Amino acid sequence: MCGIVGYVGGQSALDVVIAGLKRLEYRGYDSAGVAVLADGGMAAAKKAGKLVNLEKELDSRPLPTGATGIGHTRWATHGAPTDANAHPHLDNAGRVAVVHNGIIENFAALRAELAERGHALESETDTETVAHLLAETFSSCGDLAEAMRLVCRRLEGAFTLVAVHADEPDVVVGARRNSPLVVGVGEGEAFLASDVAAFIEHTRSAIELGQDQVVEVRRDAVTVTDFDGAPAEVRAYHVDWDASAAEKGGYASFMLKEIAEQPKAVADTLLGRIDAGGFLTLDELRIPDEVLREARKVVIVACGTAFHAALIAKYAIEHWTRIPCEVELASEFRYRDPILDAQTLVVAISQSGETMDTLMALRHAREQGAKVLAISNTNGATIPRESDAVLYTHAGPEVAVASTKAFLTQLVAVYLLALYLGQVRGTTWGDEIRAVVRDLARIGEDVERVLETMEPVRELARSLADANTVLFLGRHVGFPVALEGALKLKELAYMHAEGFAAGELKHGPIALIEKGLPVVVVVPSPRGRSVLHDKIVSNIQEIRARGARTIVIAEEGDEAVVPYADHLIRVPVTPVLLQPMVSTVPLQVFACELATVRGNDVDQPRNLAKSVTVE
Ligand code: M6R
Repeated sequence: MCGIVGYVGGQSALDVVIAGLKRLEYRGYDSAGVAVLADGGMAAAKKAGKLVNLEKELDSRPLPTGATGIGHTRWATHGAPTDANAHPHLDNAGRVAVVHNGIIENFAALRAELAERGHALESETDTETVAHLLAETFSSCGDLAEAMRLVCRRLEGAFTLVAVHADEPDVVVGARRNSPLVVGVGEGEAFLASDVAAFIEHTRSAIELGQDQVVEVRRDAVTVTDFDGAPAEVRAYHVDWDASAAEKGGYASFMLKEIAEQPKAVADTLLGRIDAGGFLTLDELRIPDEVLREARKVVIVACGTAFHAALIAKYAIEHWTRIPCEVELASEFRYRDPILDAQTLVVAISQSGETMDTLMALRHAREQGAKVLAISNTNGATIPRESDAVLYTHAGPEVAVASTKAFLTQLVAVYLLALYLGQVRGTTWGDEIRAVVRDLARIGEDVERVLETMEPVRELARSLADANTVLFLGRHVGFPVALEGALKLKELAYMHAEGFAAGELKHGPIALIEKGLPVVVVVPSPRGRSVLHDKIVSNIQEIRARGARTIVIAEEGDEAVVPYADHLIRVPVTPVLLQPMVSTVPLQVFACELATVRGNDVDQPRNLAKSVTVE
């Protein structure tokens, strides 16, 4: 939530900051703004709406060229998305500018205190208080980094702050508590950003900042301390993401590109995790095998799409390991005082690695003595950093707000984890593990085949452009797929969409069925647990008898569904537990096309942000 960029170096700060903001716009797009230090003063511009509005403003009212600057793209928390509430915020003298991601919880008290001392605050934001406090503190200490440390000690809540002061034109200062901030170190230049995507076209050398740290960057020096001024240990790392991964590469949207990248993302996530004998080697898991052997319960916490991956994980973990597995929305977890101990393995799934609800859930779990394993797509993000172990997905940067390739790679990661637990606990035979691993290795090709047959799905989506409601039904692992299909449609097409366990329908939701209502049904394989298949075929007949327009996703060769499908979407034959890897893909394409035909912004749906760093 909110994207932040800071720059000091030999290039035009404005150009670097604007280019960085373009890469971070997925984090929020309610407003955008920049501030540049030039000619001994501060020049700033900010505009409500997407970054393009700010660019137009800068075309008509250019800022002077300077070598130090900051920028922000906002997801509104305090105050409506207006020009006045857009960041950066300046003090009354216009010497300090600050951008912020997070929420300062004690801002009302700080604001009242500032007003008493004669400060005039112009916005409704919590951030503006920081600009005023920084200006006041700087005037007594004369050092922006020290002023930042002193101010941070007074702030409550979650925040990443980046600030500049006209009296220190070669310095950008940042601070971090809970929300992300990384440093990019270039040749004679340095960057601060919420995400490495903002600077990978300039440098691949990054420094990860820890909790409660302040960083001062100059062209040729980076100094990191804690809030008390003591030097802090930092981790430098090389960013191996390809800069082109953060470009659309000829696709109409990032989402379309990311859907197409799924076969590669799946293959990359499997890479290096299977030894020559076909056994799993999850070397990066820093949790010893003895601890995994002794775990008596697995609890998975996650939000949104990652929560749907967690629901699928439950089927795999319980099937392959026979350990009870609970799945919980991260935002609910800590408030019900869950029963956790040293023999509970908590798994936190988060693409961004920054979701505040998931972070708070994992902190709660660790406080109760549980071991926490993160499944994340973002190297060095807060959730993997604060976990006991991490299993990285290798989806590459996911820019579109709606999660697609991250979901498929999260599924690969949970299957690997389930099999690994089965391997170390001896509950799964070696030949079964090898067979599943072989199936997983082939599944990228199956996803590719699904992608090649999507034109009828797009056509169907276009024909439903005026529908008000779409329901999604599934059973077993198809139930979370139904939930995921409904979530994609809500967030992208802004349509009423709901996912149900097909068996629950008769307990109430069947009353929603009326003539012509589109209902998507995810049909389990007729092989294996064929009883499930037979029951869902009955469910399709029940809704069709009541007038539903049935859209059936079924395996190739499943003839039993044919008479009851108004639209039939075929997916390749896959083992029962792995079916979500292929059955989710048509639902992604369906939602993307419906959003497009309804004229919505596919990559940046309204009201949303990619990385949700508030609770
Ligand atoms: O970064 P995370 O995986 O923790 O994000 C969790 C959710 O916010 C995310 O999956 C969200 O639901 C997506 N917009 C769904 O497409």
